[in-house]
Amino acid sequence: MQTYDLIQKTRRLEPLTETELRWLVRSFTEGGIPDYMMSAWLMAVCCQGLTIEETANLTLAMRDSGDCLDLSGIGGVTVDKHSTGGIGDKTTLLVAPIVAACGGFVPKMSGRGLGFTGGTIDKLESIPGFSTSLSTEEFLAQTREIGCCVIAQSGNLTPADKKMYALRNLTATVDSIPLICASIMSKKLALGADCILLDVKYGSGAFMKTPQEAEILASLMVDVGKAAGKQCRAVITDMNAPLGANVGNALEVAEIISMLRGESRNTLTELSLALAAQMLVLSGKGDVIECRRMAEEALTSGRALDKLRAMIAAQHGDAAVCDDVQRLPQAKERVTVTAESDGFITGIQSEEVGLACLGLGAGRTAGHDTIDFGAGVTFAHFVGDEVHAGDALFTVYGSSVSLCEQAAARLRKAVTIGTEAPEQVPMIYRIVE
Ligand code: URA
Repeated sequence: MQTYDLIQKTRRLEPLTETELRWLVRSFTEGGIPDYMMSAWLMAVCCQGLTIEETANLTLAMRDSGDCLDLSGIGGVTVDKHSTGGIGDKTTLLVAPIVAACGGFVPKMSGRGLGFTGGTIDKLESIPGFSTSLSTEEFLAQTREIGCCVIAQSGNLTPADKKMYALRNLTATVDSIPLICASIMSKKLALGADCILLDVKYGSGAFMKTPQEAEILASLMVDVGKAAGKQCRAVITDMNAPLGANVGNALEVAEIISMLRGESRNTLTELSLALAAQMLVLSGKGDVIECRRMAEEALTSGRALDKLRAMIAAQHGDAAVCDDVQRLPQAKERVTVTAESDGFITGIQSEEVGLACLGLGAGRTAGHDTIDFGAGVTFAHFVGDEVHAGDALFTVYGSSVSLCEQAAARLRKAVTIGTEAPEQVPMIYRIVE
């Protein structure tokens, strides 16, 4: 087989066979195909697309490029959740303990943040002592005993995706729906949970800019998941404004703790309850109404907080943060910005918020950057809220006043105030089953 011929076939919209795709993925992973040829094939996919069958075959070939976990030792139906990424997206930290408190099993491998989106692993590592690198045996045992465990991607899972993703980042071939689908689903399938819930985001802070594009990606991922024998659903959600009031690692952990303690509630809480309910439905715990009620009860009773406490303790973290969030890393400086006029908040540009937080050191521009866990922003108001001149809009946290002021200048432009209340967009656009 010749890579040249496969590039030409994809360029001419001639579908590749399963054997051809498996050969391509295996040869590239083993170093037998040079980066320039693989880049040409990725660009052909980006421009011409792949059929559903080709996407499923590519996904399975990528899954099989490395190890696949055997989760049968957990002893129950396992459910995984994946978000396509967004600003302030800390739903995993709420959803995993809620589902565990309802008797579900959530073995989760998450990523670190790169660029303007945050990563769940960085958020968890802001908890003093928290370890995200456990052995596979510890990962399975903790999920069996507590119901949830969140660790960093480890071992030799989907090496094909690691190599392909690095190349896509360099060759402007990230935003291709079949390539995103194969990248995400190969990792989910290699982890091996019985059920997969996908949170596919659209908006200014997401890969997919419109709900229609998000729907195409969601349907493709659900089809591929089902073809691989999984219970799979996708929820299409809005990412035009950041999720919740806090953005930044320790600030986001503090926000989820205050929600699990019943001290705050906003659209992040509602989305997390909806996602948890869908995960419980997939796990066979009941219909969506029963599962939503179970999730709500786990939250309000404090049982979900107990699960988070148990998970933090099991992963060597300081579980006392659940009682006192001041134990989390704190920024040295803060700057509060107030509204200059009366009106309604008409928008909070999430991509700009992500970039402002990156400037504060809350994220990484390169893989080896260190993170300032205490840095970030807390919003005092959400889109649609009425504000008056002089009201606090947001507070920026960072290691110096000048860094805070730079971020504040960017955020001032990201938060728009108008005279009319904006139309409220529902957080969930559609569920794809
Ligand atoms: N996240 C992934 O894991 N892969 C992609 O291609 C895009 C987002």
